[in-house]
Amino acid sequence: MEQKGSPLGSTGQPQDTARAVQEMFARVAPRYDFLNHLLSARCDLWWRRAAARELREILERPDSIAADLCCGTGDLAFAFARYSRGIVVGADFCHPMLVVAGQKRSRLTSSVTGNTSEPTQGAARTRFIEADTLQLPFRDQSLDLVSAAFGFRNLASYEDGLREMSRVLRPGGAIAILEFSRVQWPVFGPLFRLYFHHVLPVIGTAVSGEGGPYQYLPNSVRNFPDQDALARALREHGFVKVRYRNFMGGIAALHVGFKAGP
Ligand SMILES: C[S@@+](CC[C@H](N)C(=O)[O-])C[C@H]1O[C@@H](n2cnc3c(N)ncnc32)[C@H](O)[C@@H]1O
Repeated sequence: MEQKGSPLGSTGQPQDTARAVQEMFARVAPRYDFLNHLLSARCDLWWRRAAARELREILERPDSIAADLCCGTGDLAFAFARYSRGIVVGADFCHPMLVVAGQKRSRLTSSVTGNTSEPTQGAARTRFIEADTLQLPFRDQSLDLVSAAFGFRNLASYEDGLREMSRVLRPGGAIAILEFSRVQWPVFGPLFRLYFHHVLPVIGTAVSGEGGPYQYLPNSVRNFPDQDALARALREHGFVKVRYRNFMGGIAALHVGFKAGP
């Protein structure tokens, strides 16, 4: 899969890219959720919930272990937890993003539903750890599901990312990548691109007070493989039954595949 320089648009070394990504998310962490929901008109929440529903069968297996990589503030991990009968680990290498995830977890686990003291939405099944997706602290073939939502695009190497995700999956385990992609609807596509490349960076910069990240977002999506190229890359890395589903014509796409095995 072709990777056009680093996701930050430089041709920097992988460690420079990783540091730049880490610092960028550390700066926006406190306002990340608010801006995500504002800029996507809350569609991001729907996309993550739909992704969790799509993976429900795996999550509902007793003792399933799922790892949401590049988990940020934890929204996909929490969406998984609604269905999980095992554990959901959220992993990210940006500490301030994990702090927000931890605060959210505390809020969710302390709210009580009705007369029961059941933690809402299964959030008690989530754990958060600081870890680099390119060097995961999981044993070979130990997980049933690995995922990344809007994080895979930021990796310094997509090839290394797929290799590492495959390493930790059991044979038959699932990989799920939710990412911005290419809008395929004819009229909506150009209008969305106008918004994404020209309006979103202005609003994102004004609200976050940070210039870089919301300019970086459309640039990184422009350089990211389209739906078919990402599906091809998954197959080239040994994943089978690869499929993808577009959200809103392809603003985002969910790719799912399975590690070949018995
Ligand atoms: C756009 S945010 C997505 C967060 C979350 N998954 C979501 O759906 O909102 C990207 C996240 O990927 C994380 N990230 C990028 N590269 C990473 C890496 N190599 N290892 C771990 N986390 C990484 C960043 O720290 C950031 O929290």
